[in-house]
Amino acid sequence: MEERYMKVCVVGTGYVGLTTGVSLAFLGHQVTCVDLDQHKVDMLNGGRCPIYEPGMDELLAEAAGNLTFTTSYSDGVPGADVVFVAVQTPSAPDGSPDLRYLRSAAESVAGNLDHDFTVVVNKSTVPIGSGNWVDAILRESFAQRADRPAGCEFSVASNPEFLREGNAIHDTLFPDRIVIGSDNPRSLEVLNQLYRPIINQTFTAPSFSPRPDDIGAVPLVSTDLASAELIKYAANAFLALKISYANEIGQLAAKVGADITEVTRGMGLDQRIGSRFLQAGVGWGGSCFGKDTKALIATAAEYNYSMPIVQAAREVNDRQRLIAVERLQDELRILKGRKIGLLGVAFKPNTDDLRDSPSLDIANLLLARGARVRLHDPIAGERFKREQPDLAPYFSDTIDALFDDCDAVVLVTEWAQYLELDWSKFVGLMRTPILLDGRHVLDADRMARLGYKYLAIAG
Ligand code: UGA
Repeated sequence: MEERYMKVCVVGTGYVGLTTGVSLAFLGHQVTCVDLDQHKVDMLNGGRCPIYEPGMDELLAEAAGNLTFTTSYSDGVPGADVVFVAVQTPSAPDGSPDLRYLRSAAESVAGNLDHDFTVVVNKSTVPIGSGNWVDAILRESFAQRADRPAGCEFSVASNPEFLREGNAIHDTLFPDRIVIGSDNPRSLEVLNQLYRPIINQTFTAPSFSPRPDDIGAVPLVSTDLASAELIKYAANAFLALKISYANEIGQLAAKVGADITEVTRGMGLDQRIGSRFLQAGVGWGGSCFGKDTKALIATAAEYNYSMPIVQAAREVNDRQRLIAVERLQDELRILKGRKIGLLGVAFKPNTDDLRDSPSLDIANLLLARGARVRLHDPIAGERFKREQPDLAPYFSDTIDALFDDCDAVVLVTEWAQYLELDWSKFVGLMRTPILLDGRHVLDADRMARLGYKYLAIAG
């Protein structure tokens, strides 16, 4: 298929929206990103990125000629071939996603549609069935417009996002697959066209993101709306339960005297299992696995169906955070008054995202047991102080201050800075040199040689 550049509008400049917009502009499409937050829009128009994502600043600069940011739908939707809706869908108290931002975005899109055919794409992770719901809102809002243009058609599609924070650009430009779903063949055709440069890998990779050698053509899954919506949830829940499974085996490994890193290595080399997402530790966090597993269970419940495997993955994950605290308690006996340092507040390395970060729960559990907690992070400190006012006073700006007179240190987020730390220097600062490796990433023998009492979460 011949490549053709399109006019694209992206609503919402969170991780997903921004990465989508910047990447499509980099590939040659004309992209307008709409966000109601004036401050964010001003930053982005000034070439500054509001989130920490490796490579994003460089890609923003490369894509600048094809990219504008605005607070106004009327600057982006008219004339667009494709409108991506990538607004936040936080969890409502019952576990189902709160779709109010999606509704108002859909209404605003409908108020500005103006030409022969527009594909409106749900890029947010939305419950199965939301595509139809958005379609109904679009039609209703469009029908209410006194100024609605004649001959204006539109259709809803789902195009789930599989990018990982911290690897967002790599995962967008070199994905394992692209999934598009719609019940309208014309929409599928437009999206197939939009993604041609990625599917055919015809672009030149920017220098900061070396092109993987074996990338070849990227498979396209072109399917119906409900299937595309379910693929996203099914994939995230599977990854979450893969990690929880490794964690469950990890606890058994500790009991029988086995080494979990050896066990998961031995498992992962079976190609039917695969080695990725088998790393045991304090468990998963972030904005996706927790929310999506909860939403999947909530959707099933609407059909009077239960999902015990997904439920169990969540329970194992919650338990891991408690196990970290109990590991320390077993060792120190008394937690009250002990100074415990937590290395890392971001939910994983290479992001400043704190959502559902294991550190937050571990800190609160320790504080509830009377410990004196200190936290550190090489990148997420400012966001932490802003978003976690209750925990902010416990943040240490330096690693020295965190280690000083500490009874135990826990490595919670495996930032490269921590792996490369001069661990020999810090051991002397501690009151008791207990080191709990929450991610099984440090060399146990080396740490013991340096004088630490090395503990792991699992065996
Ligand atoms: C996840 C999925 O990996 C993406 O494919 C998906 O697009 C995204 O959710 C989404 O729905 O938007 P993300 O949450 O950014 O991406 O982060 P991951 O790299 O998947 O890590 C999730 C959590 O699992 C982290 O807390 C990480 O530390 C933990 N993890 C990961 C483990 O505990 N063990 C592992 O082996 C791998």
